[in-house]
Amino acid sequence: MLSNIVPRSPSLAALLVQLVAILVIYLLAIIPYMPLFSIFVWAVLQGVVAAVISYQLNMPRWWLPIHLMFIPALVVTLSLALSPIWFLGTFLILVLVYGKTYQTQVPLYLSSSKATQALALLLPEHKKFTLIDLGCGCGGLLNDLSKIRPNGYFYGIEAAPIPFVISKLRSMVVTPNCTIQWGDIWSYDLSNYDVVYAYLSPIPMEELWCKARREMRPDSIFISNSFIVPGVKPDKSIKLDDLTNATLYIWRI
Ligand SMILES: C[S@@+](CC[C@H](N)C(=O)[O-])C[C@H]1O[C@@H](n2cnc3c(N)ncnc32)[C@H](O)[C@@H]1O
Repeated sequence: MLSNIVPRSPSLAALLVQLVAILVIYLLAIIPYMPLFSIFVWAVLQGVVAAVISYQLNMPRWWLPIHLMFIPALVVTLSLALSPIWFLGTFLILVLVYGKTYQTQVPLYLSSSKATQALALLLPEHKKFTLIDLGCGCGGLLNDLSKIRPNGYFYGIEAAPIPFVISKLRSMVVTPNCTIQWGDIWSYDLSNYDVVYAYLSPIPMEELWCKARREMRPDSIFISNSFIVPGVKPDKSIKLDDLTNATLYIWRI
């Protein structure tokens, strides 16, 4: 029931949890005769309160350690008296890698080498073909595939600036059969590709499936790493024995 009053945006919900926990700790701290704890102890208590609130709100479990450690980590870092340049630099890097996650709800994490190997086995060995990686991250997957299947032409779209620059440089220096573009996957037409690969998150899958059905050519292949399309059974799935026990879901259009 409590979860009904929480904002739908996960980052706003997390911010709210942190602010409420800070308020609780502040109210505790100003109670007369409260023992004089160190700032670090108060920070740890704030983390515990935030984690408990997050648990009560049924937020995904991986938020618990984040809530638990956020303010204590902040207090420890501030006590190191580092130059503000480090904070500014780290903040800028994070914005340039993860800044769009707020909008897309798809953070950067990379396909495993097991995923690359399984994908390569699905691709033609001699015939020409085109493959696009929607949200290609740092371009590692495309880079590896383009070496294993030099008969293919590989495309990547990426919205985050730093991953885009890394994948663009990689494609320019190492892999001539690979083209990387900066942009939004939703504004790209998928009709030019034999294989469309996506490793995103559960959030965009339903909309992406509608886009694939609308735009992809008959007989082309749509592959999603880890995330199903709700209510649409894949034609094939391949379990990967990798770190996250991921599965490749494959649909023939
Ligand atoms: C989980 S990573 C996958 C990276 C790479 N495809 C791989 O398999 O190693 C998802 C990537 O998609 C990018 N992304 C998410 N939404 C996007 C969008 N609407 N347009 C372009 N890129 C997007 C993110 O910035 C992130 O780099």
